[in-house]
Amino acid sequence: QAGLDTRLIGRNLVYFAETDSTNSQAQRLAEEGAPDGTVVVADGQRSGKGRMGRTWASPTGVNLYTSVLLRPAVSPLRAPQLSFVAALAVARAVREHCGLAAEVKWPNDILLDHAKVAGLLSEMNAESERIHYVVLGIGLNVNMEAEQFPADLRYPATSLKLAAGHAWERAPLARHLYHVLEELYEQFLDQGFAPIARQWEALCPWRGRRIEVDRGADRVCGTFAGIDEYGALLLDIDGNAPLKIYAGDVRPLD
Ligand code: BTN
Repeated sequence: QAGLDTRLIGRNLVYFAETDSTNSQAQRLAEEGAPDGTVVVADGQRSGKGRMGRTWASPTGVNLYTSVLLRPAVSPLRAPQLSFVAALAVARAVREHCGLAAEVKWPNDILLDHAKVAGLLSEMNAESERIHYVVLGIGLNVNMEAEQFPADLRYPATSLKLAAGHAWERAPLARHLYHVLEELYEQFLDQGFAPIARQWEALCPWRGRRIEVDRGADRVCGTFAGIDEYGALLLDIDGNAPLKIYAGDVRPLD
């Protein structure tokens, strides 16, 4: 892709005018041996995938739908950390490129004015000791109009256009995103997860606040105390050791 200034991410770039899902395409390419850093990007998706089996609205020509294939030589236990690397990269790219005050929400959402502007879906193929590959799927609502959002969303949603009041060119934004993602991924490989976690927490407005976590089977309330060394949410409930939460939907209580 013209103008890409990365060493790894996007050196091999596969573009689709339309596809089922860039994550599914990246998984297929990974199974066929595509190299570390391969990027799949599509102008539209027929069946965009969201977290927890949900769908991701993917109208053609307005947003960014991209998946990055990585083959890190780290334990599969550390794979969730990579979703934080990617979410942080999206928040930083939006801040730096658009000058908008993007924040992060556990586990891997990106918010503008408390509304979701981007989401992350990571999918992995691993055995006990080794990651074969991780696919980090990023959906960023760029120029989506209010009426293009599904009516039944469980959360408030927005786009960069709705937040800024004008449309954005997608290619320069995508280039900046790949650039920041590469920088943070290199930091992750060199220095581990701690610096990533600290930067992520700095963009998360909820520390010290009361939240409710919907774990599917039940709901728990407590004070958000940050994330642990694997990215689990730390929830202070009674002043004892914090409860570690690995999956769920979070909402603030105050
Ligand atoms: C979420 O539920 O918040 C995650 C949404 C992830 C959507 C992106 S769009 C590009 C990639 N391909 C998919 O099918 N999903 C991810």
